[in-house]
Amino acid sequence: MKFKNPADRWGPVSQLLHWTIAALIVAISAIGLWMDTLPNTPRKIEVYALHKSIGITILVLALLRLVWRFYAGAPATLAGLPRWQVRTATLTHAALYALLFAMPLSGWLLNASAGYPLQWFGLFNLPRLIERDESLHELAQTLHEAGFWILLALVIAHAAAAFHHHLFRQDETLARMLPRSRRRGPLETPHGS
Ligand code: HEM
Ligand code: HEM
Repeated sequence: MKFKNPADRWGPVSQLLHWTIAALIVAISAIGLWMDTLPNTPRKIEVYALHKSIGITILVLALLRLVWRFYAGAPATLAGLPRWQVRTATLTHAALYALLFAMPLSGWLLNASAGYPLQWFGLFNLPRLIERDESLHELAQTLHEAGFWILLALVIAHAAAAFHHHLFRQDETLARMLPRSRRRGPLETPHGS
């Protein structure tokens, strides 16, 4: 299938999933940190609901991404990278995948154990899987908060590594996660010129 990942770069589906999830992570994190500071009005409930809906969306996209990853594979490791860097990148990516599931699931758990309903953008209700439970709520809250700070640290390190490779090593690490630039080759001159 032409959308699969070729040996030298990430294909369009992997890129689309990567950047959509990355944008949603930035948005949900900003909302998560901000929503607690809002005054107790109906708007606050709407903002919490938005946070939860985006979180459920991330969970579904993460699932799709994992399935796609197994189906479409990954491009080959760039030649010439030291072994420790390849290992660190693999471990970081695995941890990021784990957090893409752990964050929405701990959020879901903390919401359900507090006895709140869960809707997806006001369109439908998700099933209530557990009863209200104070100690589970506290545990889920701790996991959600600690998970977030670990996620933040990993994303900063991950993005910094990508930019370091792009700007200082000047290799293909970042470019192969971006759409191919449409530079014209010497034989492809525009019509009429
Ligand atoms: C990738 C997904 C998610 C990220 C990055 C994220 C991030 C955050 C952050 C940064 C906070 C504020 C810090 C804290 O109190 O922990 C927060 C709080 C919260 N999140 Fe999420 N969240 C995600 C998914 C979800 C989901 C799916 C739900 C519910 C279904 C949810 C429900 C909540 C709730 C209820 C709070 C307030 C916690 C409290 O009462 O102290 N989150 N989240
Ligand atoms: C500015 C932000 C980001 C940049 C510049 C960036 C860059 C990249 C690049 C260049 C790769 C390919 C690495 C390679 O080919 O070895 C990659 C892979 C990956 N990124 Fe990001 N990323 C960013 C944000 C995120 C976020 C927010 C997440 C998730 C929380 C994430 C999760 C991943 C994962 C899991 C992989 C491995 C893909 C796989 O093996 O399937 N990235 N990223």
